[in-house]
Amino acid sequence: MKYVIANFKSNKNLSEIRNWRQSFEVQEYSNVTTIVAPPLPYLSLFKDESRRFLLAAQDVSPFPMGSYTGAVNAAQLKDFGVTHALVGHSERRRYFHESHQEIANKIQQLLDNEIIPILCIDEEYIAAQSKLLSDTQKNSMLVAYEPLSAIGTGVRPDLGTVQRIIAQIKKHFGEDTITLYGGSVTEQDCREFLIVADGLLVGGASLDAAHFSRIVAAAANS
Ligand code: PGA
Repeated sequence: MKYVIANFKSNKNLSEIRNWRQSFEVQEYSNVTTIVAPPLPYLSLFKDESRRFLLAAQDVSPFPMGSYTGAVNAAQLKDFGVTHALVGHSERRRYFHESHQEIANKIQQLLDNEIIPILCIDEEYIAAQSKLLSDTQKNSMLVAYEPLSAIGTGVRPDLGTVQRIIAQIKKHFGEDTITLYGGSVTEQDCREFLIVADGLLVGGASLDAAHFSRIVAAAANS
């Protein structure tokens, strides 16, 4: 099974989201799990899409329900049919100063609500992040290798590097951990990454529904 995830980040308004949904043409592939992570306010627009793709949140509160102004908790995400959630994306770490511990707390909140975490990680903090997670937590998540230098830049690491870091992730998280690659993936190079990774986390190239459909199709045929 290959995983292909669209991360819209903080892009698109209501009409653009509606257009994307209408123009995203993908047949059901038995060998690909497609997951879409829209901005939170638009989650409900995707609630009935489970035949075509699963729904992910881009983030979650590190706290349960309660007095945490501005936070959206895992139980609330669950109500919208969310099955997966990104955690520890480098943009969260960089612009929102999230710590490894906060990310570990988010993972536990997700697991308490039966949502599968997709932990984003770069080489330099694999060990530090992994140290804060139990084996049970590690066995219940997907991990995405996302080199900072490749996110939104068009600069891609060579396959050998991706292979080496994925091996390092599996050493820390478990040999059977589903490990994705993310960072400037396009339809032109996605097949290469799928040789060494179990799937793709796609940012910029997911914003165009037709482009993203072709990446999913490429994964199905890889
Ligand atoms: P990008 O983003 O594909 O635009 O580089 C990937 C990500 O940040 O998940």
